[in-house]
Amino acid sequence: MEAKKHNTYLSLYCLIFMTSKVTMSSSTIIFMFILFIMTTVVSSSSPNTTQESPIEKRYKKWLSRYGNHRPSNMRNMNLKSRFEIYKHNVQFIDKFNSENHSFTLIDNQFADMTNEEFKGTYLNHEMTGNRTQYCEEGRNMNYINTSQVPPPPVSIDWRNTGAVGPVKNQSTCGSCWAFSAVAAVEGLTYIKTGQFLSLSEQQLVDCDTTNSGCNGGLEPKAFEFIKKNGLSTSNDYPYMALDGLKCKSDLKVAAAIDGYECVEPNSEAQLLYVVATRPVSVSIEIEFCFFQLYDRGIYSCSKCGSHNNNHAVLIVGYGHDLLTGRDYWIIKNSYGQAWGEGGYMRMTRNACDGIGVCGITQMPSYPI
Ligand SMILES: *[C@@H]1O[C@H](CO)[C@@H](O)[C@H](O)[C@H]1NC(C)=O
Ligand SMILES: *[C@@H]1O[C@H](CO)[C@@H](O)[C@H](O)[C@H]1NC(C)=O
Ligand SMILES: *[C@@H]1O[C@H](CO)[C@@H](O)[C@H](O)[C@H]1NC(C)=O
Ligand SMILES: *[C@@H]1O[C@H](CO)[C@@H](O)[C@H](O)[C@H]1NC(C)=O
Ligand SMILES: *[C@@H]1O[C@H](CO)[C@@H](O)[C@H](O)[C@H]1NC(C)=O
Repeated sequence: MEAKKHNTYLSLYCLIFMTSKVTMSSSTIIFMFILFIMTTVVSSSSPNTTQESPIEKRYKKWLSRYGNHRPSNMRNMNLKSRFEIYKHNVQFIDKFNSENHSFTLIDNQFADMTNEEFKGTYLNHEMTGNRTQYCEEGRNMNYINTSQVPPPPVSIDWRNTGAVGPVKNQSTCGSCWAFSAVAAVEGLTYIKTGQFLSLSEQQLVDCDTTNSGCNGGLEPKAFEFIKKNGLSTSNDYPYMALDGLKCKSDLKVAAAIDGYECVEPNSEAQLLYVVATRPVSVSIEIEFCFFQLYDRGIYSCSKCGSHNNNHAVLIVGYGHDLLTGRDYWIIKNSYGQAWGEGGYMRMTRNACDGIGVCGITQMPSYPI
């Protein structure tokens, strides 16, 4: 058993050696070193122990796909510990998927991170701000009297209209708030002008000093910034996933807004009426229920948000799934197109007494 373990780690280290660029002389030394270790291992174990277990094979495959894309703060952590975390996650994923849930999990790019590491690296740490400061009754809170307006369509998907651009990738920067706000402005700009423009998140990260760049922010504050300054295109002002860069203020303004409004909170009915008119930015709480490992299907979570919303996304539609009988929201995330359903998640709608799964109705806002 000991020898088998030893061999596992050896092969993982080999992978590293093989992928790193080494000079002739150092590769010779490494080769001799490997030969030495292998001799030691083989001589101390039965032939069977040279076989890789399925989980080892799976981890190797995972490493070749995602290993080079890990956040820099994790690249130097030893593979033994990473493998243990991965193994633990995969055991959980396999068990979860064997049960009858409305969604499945997968060992995606976050599969060798603990939930704590995921939270520390990707989540918005500035979202617990007092929303009543930005969304006030009588000022910019849009209450819709649903008995006075026609009912919204039973389903809508803004992706089919041209108002939603390709899914982007925030990388290892807590800038979800910028992606959510920019995607909302992209949607509104399309609805107003009939032209789709990819706009700049990095401009918000660099220039919006009311928010905190890679440490987080609030979409209403971002909309205030955009109202005052406009936004450049992402071509003119490309995303760097970095904090502390100098703000470029001499670029052409490509899109402008008049301001923003907030949706009456804690009501999925109110949210539905607004999403029928445009994509809407929402803050959600995602530290529960394995959001990070979502694969496909209709996500649900019995934790309904505790006003500790730590991620921002864009609602781009809603519908009803005949297979599971569930109503859902369509959520555009910013973890790249490989995450979830092509970068999107369907999240259970009409749950949690109006608060919504992950507290989705606690802080919705949109540009006008
Ligand atoms: C190796 O040993 C394990 C048990 O330790 C066994 O399940 C497996 O079938 C063996 N594999 C081979 C190729 O003999
Ligand atoms: C996201 O971007 C980072 C940095 O550019 C890259 O390393 C990573 O592979 C990307 N992830 C996805 C899923 O596209
Ligand atoms: C799985 O769930 C669906 C609906 O949620 C139900 O119709 C089906 O009978 C369940 N299957 C099992 C094996 O529990
Ligand atoms: C939030 O802000 C409002 C208005 O600025 C204030 O009245 C309220 O006391 C604040 N609530 C908390 C919990 O700070
Ligand atoms: C909504 O509109 C109906 C019909 O016009 C009216 O009776 C009702 O008082 C309104 N509700 C609110 C909360 O304003």
